[in-house]
Amino acid sequence: MLETKIHPDSNVGTKTNKKFPNGFLWGAGTSSYQVEGGLDANDWARSNKVPKAGDACDHYNRYATDFAIARDLGHNSHRLSLEWSRIEPEPGKWNEAELKHYHDVLEDLKNKGFTTFVTLHHFTNPVWVAEQKGWESNQTADRFTQYVAKVAQSLGHLIDFWITINEPNIYAAMAYTEGKWPPHKKSIVKTSKVYDHMLHAHNNSYDVIHSYYPDAKVGFAQNITFTRPKHKTLRDRIAARILGWADIGFPYGHTKNDFIGVNHYFNNRVHVSFKPEKNFIEFDEKRGDLTDRGWEIYPEALYQVLLKLKDYNLPVYITENGLADAKDQKRARFISSYLSAVLRAIDKGVLVKGYLHWALMDNFEWEDGYQWKFGLVEVDFETQERKVRPSAYQYKKICESNELGS
Ligand code: GCO
Repeated sequence: MLETKIHPDSNVGTKTNKKFPNGFLWGAGTSSYQVEGGLDANDWARSNKVPKAGDACDHYNRYATDFAIARDLGHNSHRLSLEWSRIEPEPGKWNEAELKHYHDVLEDLKNKGFTTFVTLHHFTNPVWVAEQKGWESNQTADRFTQYVAKVAQSLGHLIDFWITINEPNIYAAMAYTEGKWPPHKKSIVKTSKVYDHMLHAHNNSYDVIHSYYPDAKVGFAQNITFTRPKHKTLRDRIAARILGWADIGFPYGHTKNDFIGVNHYFNNRVHVSFKPEKNFIEFDEKRGDLTDRGWEIYPEALYQVLLKLKDYNLPVYITENGLADAKDQKRARFISSYLSAVLRAIDKGVLVKGYLHWALMDNFEWEDGYQWKFGLVEVDFETQERKVRPSAYQYKKICESNELGS
């Protein structure tokens, strides 16, 4: 039996109903560059400052067997992303063969009985978009909206939930503040411009999708951290407020949404540090039980984030939540403890209607390459062999019974 370090702030022993609402959606997610393989016309594949995904999980060719695994694991929903650089390799030139490919992919999901969550932008851009100043340019929102219109025309009948953009806050920060992702810039001014342009693109896409499908369910997936002040000082409290506002108040205050997609991983305690190189804000060190990636396992943070979303009175889907855990020692307990937080939020009136674990299978983890194992399914990247991890069977029991076992 593995010893657990209980997080110092844990709220243990809270009783809740174990049943999820009827029709709750269960599944897992992936994104194109992280799993498909064979992509070379996007900005990630062309940057020489980040690892390349190469063949990834060869999911482009193996999607049908991968979806069969997900179905056998009791999932009734699946999240994936479309790769813009495949669909529109040059401005205004549509690659019909790739559209046909995605048609086959989505049709296969539908034939297997899945509800589909389709992301239109998951961190990668076609090279031609990147060459025209990417999301710094105010024209990128228009270009993106044209691509979204094409997807709506060609594939819209196979899409149940539309996720226009994945984590505009993280994309803007990693690519334009931290400089770790292409185009490797470090400017707060550019970061806020990019974030704003992405939210604008989301709003335009919302309208375009609704013009084709008036009843479409459109949202974006936002990475929402539970942020608290480290000390009770005014300046730490203001810092925490600003960060919380950047994740929730600002984006949801001026975007149109039929649902809220929450990607949740982080619990941060912040303090003001007077270090310009850190943009004056520092995060406290991680405590308690950690994932392989050094992220805190702290389900209370998800509960707190969900409570903050209650005021928007929209259906909420957890579009990502998961951990790097190569030995699969913590995943089963992680899933049940975070789901218990979800149940507590539902009891408090938050309209949570689905949970998509990140990820269906091990995949390319951006600037860190292949070292972190986020999958319910293990992938051998030499042989492309898939092996279901034991925790995936624990999750299957929850998906199939629609309740948390004791
Ligand atoms: C993100 C993405 C995923 C990651 C996952 C684990 O949040 O960065 O949406 O692509 O793989 O979050 O880090």
